[in-house]
Amino acid sequence: MSTTTTRAGAFSDQELARIRADFPILARTVRDGHPLVYLDSGATSQKPYAVLDAERDWYTQVNAAPHRGAHALSEEGTEAYEAARATIAAFVGAGPQEIVFTKNATESLNLAAYAFSNASTGGGGGGGDRFRLGPGDEVVVTEMEHHANLIPWQELCRRTGATLRWLGVTDEGRLDLSNLDSVITERTRVVSVVHASNVLGTINPVATIVARARSVGALVVLDACQSVPHLAVDVADLGVDLLAFSGHKMLGPMGVGVLWGRPEVLDAMPVFLTGGSMIETVTMERATYAPVPQKFEAGVPNAAQAVGLAAACDYLTELGMDRVAAHEHALTELLLAGLRERPWTRLVGPDDLLDRGGAVSFVVDEVHAHDVGQILDDQGVAVRVGHHCAWPLHRRMRAMATTRVSVAAYTTPADIAAFFTALDRVPTVFGIGG
Ligand code: ALA
Repeated sequence: MSTTTTRAGAFSDQELARIRADFPILARTVRDGHPLVYLDSGATSQKPYAVLDAERDWYTQVNAAPHRGAHALSEEGTEAYEAARATIAAFVGAGPQEIVFTKNATESLNLAAYAFSNASTGGGGGGGDRFRLGPGDEVVVTEMEHHANLIPWQELCRRTGATLRWLGVTDEGRLDLSNLDSVITERTRVVSVVHASNVLGTINPVATIVARARSVGALVVLDACQSVPHLAVDVADLGVDLLAFSGHKMLGPMGVGVLWGRPEVLDAMPVFLTGGSMIETVTMERATYAPVPQKFEAGVPNAAQAVGLAAACDYLTELGMDRVAAHEHALTELLLAGLRERPWTRLVGPDDLLDRGGAVSFVVDEVHAHDVGQILDDQGVAVRVGHHCAWPLHRRMRAMATTRVSVAAYTTPADIAAFFTALDRVPTVFGIGG
């Protein structure tokens, strides 16, 4: 198989060598000296020195609780934390006050779901009719959701008596919009969908969904976990109301995520976690809450991680998100072509590059994904196997488990070639396809 990329915009070998030198972990070996071939960036990305240094600098130079205390470190800590917010906001075309720091996208999505149920029980600082749900109301998701964008809404419906509905998935792995108007109706109060599927790679038609949701007055939440790290995402262009992503999937640290919201939506939204630093006034009986984003950030924040995430945004901006997307597109093309050449594999997801990201999942006839993963791992190739926290989607695609390859800016065509060399041992070991 050729290791040259053909698509315009992909990183050259020289550029890739420079990028990879920024990621110390990529130089290590695994399993008896095999060079690490890291193809599990969809689960978590590796981190460049710039991110590791930013976190270290925070702890060695600044460490103090932001928004508390009046001493020099506290002041500098607050400034660094708020500067990180501004950098991350700019990365997705938002204003700083529209960025709420969370632990990860899962927490961001739970924050949104709990805001709705707090409004429904009169807690969390009100929120008004917009967020109040009850019997007769409906929440719409899709069959391709990660559990993080499914279970919080199931639980919200259980707590409020609302009904959960969903858009299906076609055999090809695209969203089935044929019944869009009968699934999203006047009863729909919130639509929460994934932007780029972590299993199929499919990039969903957000504009179509937003247009339908708007026409019935529903709020739209977007799980952008697998899109913000890989494409240029601008919240204003998307037209959604709330958007969640994680730092650790976009070269940033673990332990920091973001909930972006339209200012008027965040303003009206009830709080989720309560405690220190999210208040305006407190008596023994009650409290009033600070303006956004502080009202959503109870407790001492993950400031070092926020600063690390800002460094990751700077790093990606320096690479250029359009280049990152073009590079990953070229790698995806290699992956799809390689699987096509192996008839004993079945791709689970679209077999073309249109509206498609770099998560490529497949099954091997008669071989469990865990066995495929083990053969790859024996040769230093790290992929994810299982249902990837999208069990209903796997059922829909008639796969108990899949093997998923996922790429990032530092992935090389040689990594993809090494993956296929390792994969080609599977038919021999299991006596299939041969
Ligand atoms: N959500 C992550 C994945 O898809 C962990 O692997």
